[in-house]
Amino acid sequence: MFEIWVGQGLISSNDKKWQQHRKILAPAFHFNILHEFLHIINTITPVNLFYPLSLCAFDIVCDSSMGISMNSQQQKESPYIRAIDELDRLLMQRYLSPMLRVDFLYKFSSVKKRTEQPAKIVEDYTSKVIEERRNYLKNLKVAESFGDVEENNNVGLRRKNMAFIDTLLKAQEENGSLMTDNDIRDQVSTFIAAGNDTVTAASCWTLLILGTYPEIQKKVVDELHQIFGSSRHARTMNDLAELKYLERCIKETLRLYPTFPFFERQIREDIHFHDGLIAPAGVTASINLFMLHRDPEHFPDPERFDPDRFLPENCARRHPYSYLPFSAGPRSCIGQKFVLLEGKAVVSTILRHFEVEAAQSIDEVKIEVALVMKPQNGLKVRLRDRGADDLKLRLN
Ligand code: HEM
Repeated sequence: MFEIWVGQGLISSNDKKWQQHRKILAPAFHFNILHEFLHIINTITPVNLFYPLSLCAFDIVCDSSMGISMNSQQQKESPYIRAIDELDRLLMQRYLSPMLRVDFLYKFSSVKKRTEQPAKIVEDYTSKVIEERRNYLKNLKVAESFGDVEENNNVGLRRKNMAFIDTLLKAQEENGSLMTDNDIRDQVSTFIAAGNDTVTAASCWTLLILGTYPEIQKKVVDELHQIFGSSRHARTMNDLAELKYLERCIKETLRLYPTFPFFERQIREDIHFHDGLIAPAGVTASINLFMLHRDPEHFPDPERFDPDRFLPENCARRHPYSYLPFSAGPRSCIGQKFVLLEGKAVVSTILRHFEVEAAQSIDEVKIEVALVMKPQNGLKVRLRDRGADDLKLRLN
């Protein structure tokens, strides 16, 4: 039966033919020449890390905001992830179409129609999780009043670390009209939307850059070596706080590849510029971070990747608004500390295990601006295992 596919190859041939061919082929699989293949396997198999990193970011943001383990990294398919991917795409379609920006036209468009189903999936799921969390906290209170605080994990909810949703539920308990069920659902959805692709894109660009400049990656790895020593596995907050060089690399990455390359503000009062120009109240100002972060007055030789631009003494010399990856002022990113923490945890974990090499020159990587700015074809890198010891940091 197999012949229809492989003809008279080694598997399906017999007798003399098989004997002769087996003899010819055996040396090709001799142990001594396998190292040649290993070289090929090691060097020409780039992997695309974008999707795995995005599942990782998704699991982290869901666990910290809803207190639920999604385990999406262990699953092949998640309707929730598919739904938010679809929403991301459809939202961008609307954003880029002057016609669809008009509410009235959008209401009757096919884009709006196609948005309904994924939006419903997200809404239903979030509502379900909120309900489960509320019941769980109620049961926990009862259990605690009986002195029985055993972990109840059958719905994937956990008690010890307070999730973001608990803050909202507590606010609701104190003042129901200030925090309605809908408010809670919207805030949770906002955090998941804000904390997923953003962190993924930032980790991707950081790894792509470190995979492009081995000398900088070596410095990061030296720092990891110093901090993690040779035996410890777990990361603590202190370990992450000590990763100062890696933090500078992430900040410099966000300078060159700001996750949101532009954001907008409606101007409330006339702004008078030095040269006499006026931006009148009511207009929308678009802040273009891609250009702002490349201003040679603040960042000399702007295209050069130089983490030391973010040494404290160099930051102190710069204008406070010359670098705005998280915006500034009261509407700045509420999650920025979380981002640096997560970015450092994810990137350091990968670098502790693997040497990363970019599979494509960074100048050839096409940039895609959907809701966030990301490498168009994902993050293609080659990974080499650093070794088998506990820390996976065997450096030459
Ligand atoms: C690399 C990652 C991230 C970047 C670069 C980033 C950047 C930004 C920027 C520029 C804004 C202001 C947008 C505007 O006003 O038009 C913003 C707002 C916001 N971000 Fe982030 N963000 C990131 C990750 C996160 C994460 C992980 C969370 C939460 C888990 C988060 C939650 C928010 C929220 C809730 C706002 C709205 C704040 C308000 O208006 O009061 N962000 N972010």
